[in-house]
Amino acid sequence: MEVLKQHLIDPEICIRCNTCEETCPVDAITHDANNYVVKAEVCNGCMACISPCPTGSIDNWRTVLKSQAYSIEEQFTWDELPAQNTTASAALDNHAPASADAGASAADNLDESPAGIDVDTARGSTLPPWSAAKPYVNLYTHKLPIVATVVGNYRLTGESTASDIHHIMLDFGTTPFPVVEGQSIGILPPGATQDGKTHHARQYSIASPRDGEREGYNNLSLTVKRVTQDHRGKEADGVCSNYLCDLKKGDKVNVIGPFGSTFLMPNHPNSHLLMICTGTGSAPMRAMTEYRRRRRLKGATGKLMLFFGARTKEELPYFGPLVNLPKDFIDTTLAFSRTAGQPKRYVQDAMRERAADVGQMLRDDNTFIYVCGLKGMEDGVLQALRDIAVQNGIEWDPLWRALKREGRLHLETY
Ligand code: A2P
Repeated sequence: MEVLKQHLIDPEICIRCNTCEETCPVDAITHDANNYVVKAEVCNGCMACISPCPTGSIDNWRTVLKSQAYSIEEQFTWDELPAQNTTASAALDNHAPASADAGASAADNLDESPAGIDVDTARGSTLPPWSAAKPYVNLYTHKLPIVATVVGNYRLTGESTASDIHHIMLDFGTTPFPVVEGQSIGILPPGATQDGKTHHARQYSIASPRDGEREGYNNLSLTVKRVTQDHRGKEADGVCSNYLCDLKKGDKVNVIGPFGSTFLMPNHPNSHLLMICTGTGSAPMRAMTEYRRRRRLKGATGKLMLFFGARTKEELPYFGPLVNLPKDFIDTTLAFSRTAGQPKRYVQDAMRERAADVGQMLRDDNTFIYVCGLKGMEDGVLQALRDIAVQNGIEWDPLWRALKREGRLHLETY
């Protein structure tokens, strides 16, 4: 009787952010419109997906008879995880460890530190910077969300542009909702899907620092783009983004989270931040920059360098405040891809133009790199970092491994 510790994802906690599917080096994770699931016959228990998961929903295991492992079709239908089957778990107790197969080793690893990440397969860090603040995660769940009040909602992009990006401020009053820069929250949109199920939560990065959008207040802000097309470019209204962009002051919103324990900023004041983003990927960069701006007054000396891409100047969120930040505080380079009469320019092109300065940052062990925005930029940015390292006489592969191992290269793309 072969027994398997089957790897499963908790559908009640999962926020369907796709991180696990992207991280899995053997393509054991897949999804449908309802759930993210793990293929029992493919998962080899390497644990690469465990620490990047922002909610911890990935870290679930059931002892099953191998012949009765839950199929992905069955997992797609779940609203909650099944209880542990006692027959299978008793069978495991009666078996010597030698009978355990590859699946059993997955759960065996649970007792080990997830810090044993494979820096060869991961593209970025799966650990936070050594000096990051300890984040709280999952304080509020689908079953018990926290109710926030909208205290502000305004459009960030030019009225004439196609990108309708909003800055939305949520206040939690006297209910605790502690967050740090780089974390995200889940929003539960009201209403139901066509088949009558409640909508899944949608994840948004927090755009404000830990001490509040308004310093000293229990509030935060989000950067939300109204979705008007699906992945294939067909007209489709995003359920949650439209709900959020249309909110009025005083409206109540159901929030879950916070989420995220790796894409976090270093806390030591002489650390340097190299930030690369497009569009709404600017949210965590705004949070980190604003925290540093407030802290700078208290003596932070680390350098900040930002590469920010958008279609045009009018479609760049936070354009005004950004260009007004003092040059000796943050070194900002903008890249516009659709300015009339000018060649298309992406963030990676802008980085190459600044190769000497980026190279100087790469040489410094105190530099922490953050990439957030469109999926497509990830390859381009990693390639640019590699080329810039080589150009500066730095071997990329050892540097890349060190950046990953030391929690100094954080990628969040969608
Ligand atoms: P593009 O004009 O080619 O779409 P969006 O407005 O869709 O959120 O995109 C933000 C910016 O990111 C745009 O300037 C967009 O350019 C750019 N972009 C698109 N693909 C990539 C990529 N592969 N690498 C870097 N930037 C990209």
